[in-house]
Amino acid sequence: MTERSYEIDFGEQAPTGAEAERLTASGAGEAERAEEAALRPKGLADFVGQPQVREQLSLVLDAARARGRTPDHVLLSGPPGLGKTTLAMIIAHEMGRGIRITSGPAIQHAGDLAAILSSLEEGEVLFIDEIHRMSRAAEEMLYVAMEDYRVDVIVGKGPGATAIPLELPYFTLVGATTRSGLLPAPLRDRFGFTGHLDFYSAADLHSVLSRSAGKLDMHAEDEGLTEIATRSRGTPRIANRLLRRVRDWAQVRGDGRITTQAARAALEVYEVDALGLDRLDRSVLRSLCTRFGGGPVGLSTLAVTVGEEAETVEEVAEPFLVREGLVTRTPRGRIATRAAWQHLGLTPPQGG
Ligand SMILES: Nc1ncnc2c1ncn2[C@@H]1O[C@H](COP(=O)(O)OP(=O)(O)OP(=O)(O)O)[C@@H](O)[C@H]1O
Ligand SMILES: [Mg+2]
Repeated sequence: MTERSYEIDFGEQAPTGAEAERLTASGAGEAERAEEAALRPKGLADFVGQPQVREQLSLVLDAARARGRTPDHVLLSGPPGLGKTTLAMIIAHEMGRGIRITSGPAIQHAGDLAAILSSLEEGEVLFIDEIHRMSRAAEEMLYVAMEDYRVDVIVGKGPGATAIPLELPYFTLVGATTRSGLLPAPLRDRFGFTGHLDFYSAADLHSVLSRSAGKLDMHAEDEGLTEIATRSRGTPRIANRLLRRVRDWAQVRGDGRITTQAARAALEVYEVDALGLDRLDRSVLRSLCTRFGGGPVGLSTLAVTVGEEAETVEEVAEPFLVREGLVTRTPRGRIATRAAWQHLGLTPPQGG
């Protein structure tokens, strides 16, 4: 039985990639990427929302500063686009240190990690994105590096091989994962602080959007931003992206201003509905209701019917559908709630 619905950690959400492609089927152009970088908050004070994580993190950083030490290792978990990479950069910025960025899939051999670790400078932040995808051997090397600031470089092969310990400078590891449930306990336990990022409220997304509109010199009405905020799937990255699509509409078909009307019209063009669901979200829901009578159905079966990887459905679409109360996960599979049927304008089955 390889049905993944039986293995998942129900409390967790997962990786990446597909989220980046959302709402910009053509891919973000160079200018858009530059804008995206400009919108990334630099300091903790610019980071909107997530009050708990922000407070906890600021304590960790202030205490480290007061002691003149490097901050403890930090693990950040949560769905894509909520600010994990941003926070890693903020940690380096707040500490006035450099940051080295890599990712779990990029570290296939322990040697890859040894090379990165041994080139770190005192106090630097090492950011490992998708840390749950690192190879086993690298993971074990990381344990020692995190705890003892040392790597053992193996010289030679077979019985004659010897481990030469190499001292490392103090550094702060920041790990990001969309699935903290997939991290082995020994790795998880070596982080001094774990921050879990959750979907943002519409009010927080409104703040993200007004900050962005200001930075991009847009003429935006409050109601227009509210309309975008409520349809952004609780995700700052999506909010910023929708803002640019609404700006396109406003410039080409409107009077250049971000208004409610511009927001509604543009989001209709991009098939983002009133709840913020996009095409993938809706096709998952529709398939669940119309093909499987509302479930329960296993994740991989569901994924096949919408023509997506199980991982994409699980990591990109599902967390928000669950959070909105449209889908529930049970040990027997996914189930559509009454709200899901209603949202699609369908009649729920008797007793459903
Ligand atoms: N709290 C926030 N305040 C303002 N803007 C934010 C905030 N969080 C994220 N953003 C914006 O959203 C974008 C996406 O954030 P980020 O790249 O940090 O997400 P992520 O969690 O690393 O996503 P992934 O899991 O896909 O790597 C950033 O470019 C940033 O501009
Ligand atoms: Mg990231």
